[in-house]
Amino acid sequence: MLILGIETSCDETAAAVVRDGREILSNVVVSQIDIFAEYGGVIPEIAARSHLEAMMPVVNRALTDAGVTWDEIDAIAVTHAPGLLGSLLIGTLTARTLAILHNKPLYAVHHLKSHVYANWLDEDVNALSRAASPSPVATGTARSSSPCQAPEALRKSISHLPSFPLLALVVSGGHTQILYMKGHNQFEIIGTTHDDAVGECFDKVAKILGLPYPGGPSIAKAALSGDSGRFKLPHPKVEGLDFSFSGLKSAVLRAVQKEVGVPISYPSHKLKELLSEKQICDFAASFQKTAVDILREKLEMALVEHPDVKSVVVAGGVSANEILRKALPDAYFPAPSLSGDNGAMVAAACYYEIQSGVKPTDPYKLDIYPRISIES
Ligand code: KG4
Ligand code: ZN
Repeated sequence: MLILGIETSCDETAAAVVRDGREILSNVVVSQIDIFAEYGGVIPEIAARSHLEAMMPVVNRALTDAGVTWDEIDAIAVTHAPGLLGSLLIGTLTARTLAILHNKPLYAVHHLKSHVYANWLDEDVNALSRAASPSPVATGTARSSSPCQAPEALRKSISHLPSFPLLALVVSGGHTQILYMKGHNQFEIIGTTHDDAVGECFDKVAKILGLPYPGGPSIAKAALSGDSGRFKLPHPKVEGLDFSFSGLKSAVLRAVQKEVGVPISYPSHKLKELLSEKQICDFAASFQKTAVDILREKLEMALVEHPDVKSVVVAGGVSANEILRKALPDAYFPAPSLSGDNGAMVAAACYYEIQSGVKPTDPYKLDIYPRISIES
């Protein structure tokens, strides 16, 4: 079964063609990172406008890269929730129109489900995305991959899949949750953040340190030259399997103010001017270690509470983090190129939804839900 997956929930315009939920035939991602690096964060109106410009060239490129025609596509899957309202609208309106035009069944996919299902995409096929050279499509920076460019051996190998019941640690810019999955397409939230998401915390701490947007990769890079034991940062006191990351961000802010000797009333956007390269790297490393320790500790608690669990999968943009990968050596991680937002994971999630009996949605009625939970 060939599914065209479309993703526009935040600042990536993406489309991919995936066979049977695992084999990536194409995966095109146009990122708006270059645009938002200038602003230090996503501006929703600009994101929506950029999606509008990039959307159809990205879809067409996904079909061309996959070497398939519309006749061969069995279904269209699109992210309809959660995310930025204007961004979600462009993807869903495009998918609705294409479904009507080409007479294809349309499936609406929750963004966090698709992040989780990035772990089912064939790892060796995923390696293609890392190997492929970037080429521009419409606006922004495009990443694209096609199996046609890969050595035969890379295409054929089948990787080992996660088994149920499992725990999914979802760590993105908007969410931090631990999910219990009894089987495919069955999600129970057993832990969630009370305030900021961990990715959001990486982004905010990067801002304090004067590191570029997006904060996660910048912090990870600076941390390579830093001493993770230099600054002791507190772990939040949150009951059970829930998280809180806004206190950690404030703790970094206070520690920076103390380190450079300014009062708490000092404007935070000016702190970076007072920090040395060494201090920035040490703060980045100390923060990253603390954030990863918090995630690992909660996951360990969840495993104690759920002794039936057979696998752990990690999903979402923060799953690209190398220190997190090292801290959880037995967990499944998507290929780093599939940790962030992409269309392949949307197609993968849709395939397993169809296997679980989910029916197509009405292309004339599909709505968007910027804040809906994975359980609804
Ligand atoms: O899943 P994602 O691409 O978009 C959302 O659904 O939110 O996640 C984006 C988040 C951002 O906060 C970004 O800073 C973070 O993922 N991120 C990372 C890394 N790469 C991206 N965080 C830590 N380490 C990384 N290497
Ligand atoms: Zn995401």
